[in-house]
Amino acid sequence: TTPPSSDTASFLRCLAADLPPQVVYTNASESYTSVLESSIRNLLFVTPSTPTPVAIIAAADASHVQAAVRCGARHGVRVRPRSGGHDYEGLSYRSLRSSASATAHPFAVVDLAAPAIRGVRVDAARRTAWAGSGATLGELYYAIANRSLRLAFPGGLGPTVGLGGHLSGGGFGLLLRKHGLAADHVTDAVVVNADGDILDRAAMGEDLFWAIRGGGGGSFGVVLLWKLRLVPVPATVTVFTVHRPRNQSATTLLTKWQRVAPTLPRDAFLRVVLQKEDAQFECLYLGARAGLVATMAGRFPELGVTTEDAIEMTWIEAVLYFAFYGVGKPREMLLDRGAGPERFFKAKSDYVSEPVPSHAWERAWRWLAMDGVAGLIILDPYGGRMGAVAPAATPFPHRRELYSVQYYGFWFENGTEVAEKHLGWIRGMHREMEPYVSKNPRGAYVNYRDLDLGVNHGEDDDDGVAGYEKARVWGEAYFRGNFERLAAVKAKVDPHDFFRNEQSIPPLRSSQ
Ligand code: FDA
Repeated sequence: TTPPSSDTASFLRCLAADLPPQVVYTNASESYTSVLESSIRNLLFVTPSTPTPVAIIAAADASHVQAAVRCGARHGVRVRPRSGGHDYEGLSYRSLRSSASATAHPFAVVDLAAPAIRGVRVDAARRTAWAGSGATLGELYYAIANRSLRLAFPGGLGPTVGLGGHLSGGGFGLLLRKHGLAADHVTDAVVVNADGDILDRAAMGEDLFWAIRGGGGGSFGVVLLWKLRLVPVPATVTVFTVHRPRNQSATTLLTKWQRVAPTLPRDAFLRVVLQKEDAQFECLYLGARAGLVATMAGRFPELGVTTEDAIEMTWIEAVLYFAFYGVGKPREMLLDRGAGPERFFKAKSDYVSEPVPSHAWERAWRWLAMDGVAGLIILDPYGGRMGAVAPAATPFPHRRELYSVQYYGFWFENGTEVAEKHLGWIRGMHREMEPYVSKNPRGAYVNYRDLDLGVNHGEDDDDGVAGYEKARVWGEAYFRGNFERLAAVKAKVDPHDFFRNEQSIPPLRSSQ
């Protein structure tokens, strides 16, 4: 059960022979650290003891990705794709030691953020776009708005998130109830597989095309390009943000919100962000102010939304509004890819199938109000289009839930003890909510990657191939009944588990 023998020196020689020197960064390169950290978001994984890549290939052409994969396969060095670097557990640029003493298996990063390969091409007439994986959501939204203010893409809120990881894990934002997941709108893709071959949808076949649209990043190949179907939006949309304090009405409102938000008309997306003693209700409505105010008055009068709360704007202005909280922000802010890691954070997720009782919300409030910790609980309603898509249509299975929950804790001070305190807090809050959320198994969202659910351990390997049974624990939390099909696809396209990380899909072997 030893991992495939890796020969880092030969791997680096292979890269040097097949790639232009300016795209390969090793420990010996002056800018290795700045390239490595360029898109890292979580300070937890910027430590001297974090296992880092033996090389970063900043691909400027598809052939560079092919060469990196082929050199890696030949010399036993696995490749991790990195698009926006936002993975919550840093799996696109770090690995885990299996135990304190063991050294990590060497790996390389193929970074897809170079301008030469991250372009976005919008065809407004056909309502489609081709986008490189390394493009951010902000760059995509900006490119769409430059062509038409009546087109949009139903992706996430964070403008610095990379398309590669986002689409690989499903991806959702404020258009979810009207249009479903971001991955639901992928109509073609270009992938470099474990043999280093380039495949489009026709060449890869429908099984692999199914798997890459939600089966989680880093398991099936390096996706270079995505063809996206854009969606129409009205010229005017309306937003509001209202705050309701815990000690007044928040718990009653939350309890009602659970029944109302998933059953509102599809044009209305009403989420809640809980922080300390405050419930922030945020809404995007695909229509004019009068429609939103009337909908709220009819369906959720207790929230007390007034005409003054509602602000009309274009869809792209709403993107800026929710990304940066304010009106009148310049659109160019969407092009800012961020300036490296700035905080420590840990997140966990849940799905809710039955309304949570109000006494459970009171317990959640107690966690949020604790001294010395900072965090959020974010509730995103489903229903609408989500409920109309079959749970097996894509790998993302949680279509029929009422809403999703994200617990997010963050801090700024360095140190193991500080980290343990914050990690303990977020885990405690998650434990507290267990009786009230989805079960058998408790669900989670793969794009909110959480290694507490379990990992592929080197020592469980069969010849360097991750074990299926062990992986089911977290695999079925993310993918439920779709996990087995993902593992079957993996066995077909990457039987030797070249594209592997701590939570990649293991190949389903015939004996299993
Ligand atoms: P990164 O490059 O770290 O990749 C993530 C995973 O995918 C890694 O395993 C990586 O190896 C793999 N991967 C990356 N590129 C690949 C490629 N081209 N081919 C194959 N595999 C690839 N989510 C959401 O649904 N809605 C939201 O609104 C937000 N908002 C948000 C804000 C912020 C600030 C953060 C940090 C995160 C979010 N997310 C989110 C979660 C986000 O969707 C998730 O972290 C994505 O996987 C990030 O994709 P990146 O390409 O940035 O990450």
